[in-house]
Amino acid sequence: MKKIALASDQGGFEQKEALKSVITEMGYEFEDYGVHSDASVDYPDVIYPAVKAVADGEYEMGIILCGTGIGASIVANKVRGIRAALVTSTEVAELTREHNDSNILALAGRTTELAMNEAIVRTWLGTAYSQDERHTRRINKIKDIEIKEGR
Ligand code: RB5
Repeated sequence: MKKIALASDQGGFEQKEALKSVITEMGYEFEDYGVHSDASVDYPDVIYPAVKAVADGEYEMGIILCGTGIGASIVANKVRGIRAALVTSTEVAELTREHNDSNILALAGRTTELAMNEAIVRTWLGTAYSQDERHTRRINKIKDIEIKEGR
């Protein structure tokens, strides 16, 4: 079964827990990298291990949350091989899988309603990369930038 890495800080804790049933329903297993309570942590400490495991090939994809999704997505996009998309609509969830082949979904646990995030997770996990030549060319240019930047 396909397995995804899952992580959040306290701002995404409640929704991370709630989204587990959607992930399972979509046919995925998950590894929960924390947090395991709503106690305050620094989001880089909990997000980085999960996205690093995706970059290292332990998981095909990951889902990360913080209050706004911004801090989590910034951390994720520092890691070579990660294409994290901060998504707040199902339209964008579909487009980022088709166009960017995003391998990390970043969600806002405080500023996006749970029902919307559930729909986003369903759409994101249910949409394949388009394999379109122009999108692959652009993704390869991102990979070139990672090398230039020494990542
Ligand atoms: C934590 O209070 C908050 O800063 C964090 O969850 C996130 O929104 C950061 O971008």
